[in-house]
Amino acid sequence: MKEVDYQNERVDSINETTAMAHETTLLNPRFYTTNFKEMDQLNVESVRKDWDELISEMKSDPNRTHFKKTEDWDQIDFKSLEPELRKEFIDFLVSSLTAEFSGCVLYKEMKRRGTNEEICELFSYMSRDEARHAGFINDALREAGIGVNLGFLTRKKNYTYFTPKFIYYATYLSEKIGYARYITIYRHLEKNPNKRFHPIFKWFEKWCNDEFRHGEAFALIMKSDPKFTSGINVYWIKFFLVAVFATMVIRDHARPAFHKALDVDIEWYDETVLRITSEITRQVFPIEIDLENPKWKLGLKKLCVTFDSMEKAKRSGGIRGKLKYYTYSTRALMIFVGLYLIPSKKNLVPETSRLQPSY
Ligand SMILES: [Fe+2]
Ligand SMILES: [Fe+2]
Repeated sequence: MKEVDYQNERVDSINETTAMAHETTLLNPRFYTTNFKEMDQLNVESVRKDWDELISEMKSDPNRTHFKKTEDWDQIDFKSLEPELRKEFIDFLVSSLTAEFSGCVLYKEMKRRGTNEEICELFSYMSRDEARHAGFINDALREAGIGVNLGFLTRKKNYTYFTPKFIYYATYLSEKIGYARYITIYRHLEKNPNKRFHPIFKWFEKWCNDEFRHGEAFALIMKSDPKFTSGINVYWIKFFLVAVFATMVIRDHARPAFHKALDVDIEWYDETVLRITSEITRQVFPIEIDLENPKWKLGLKKLCVTFDSMEKAKRSGGIRGKLKYYTYSTRALMIFVGLYLIPSKKNLVPETSRLQPSY
């Protein structure tokens, strides 16, 4: 148990996984807040047909009964996992849970504060789904006696403010990349069932369809007004593409034992996930990252190495450790700028954007 002392609050005692989810770092999933009033002004008239179809699909709630343990849920003993694998798997679950719950909190707040019926309806379906996803992961953690205290997180985790358009870019990308991640793991384990060391992976196929639909909703929101994807906003789109893609790659490279247990080659996995996500984003973004550019691949590699050095410097402590940490941070920033400056590829956005999950 970790003692956490909060100003103006009594001392709370929270477990290790709650502390992990609570911590705000550059790479950890964050909680967001935004200008809900501005979001409430959205008008989806220009994408009416696609919008109505999507909303009726969400209303029909195709995954209503999916997030329940069935006989497919094999019991596993966390303690039997190799210590490194156990640590990285818990990190994977906690970070996925935090991301799922972050969506739940943001979407629920929009539903609570909004007056625009259509937007509120969408956000109520999305928060319903994310609550299920977070709850399901937390069940898996609870089974191992390490469930996250979600109420504590809602009250205590720092919230990052993003203007609505930044929410659309960031959330759209994280929904679509979430889809690509879940489906890639699922398809890989379909072919290699003996590598499925935990039953939760069996749930990923239908699960990722929820994420796909959430992404579709944000695509339509961005399509509803051309200003979101033109002019100076194209530079913002590029920023979010580079930031979201790079964050994923760095985080995955920090979990070698987890990927080894799944028999997933991290390079292959990240390339596949980024390719799928990039293909999907052609539905709405006027540009895409040139994933085949050798500078892109090299930059990502350097970024992973630099983040690893940052971590080591942080752990070594002392003034020397701090100095090293700042040196590596500056280097990471320069590499990030280098990645951003790689020319992107232009993309002709189709008239209608609706896609179905097909991977
Ligand atoms: Fe989700
Ligand atoms: Fe989602």
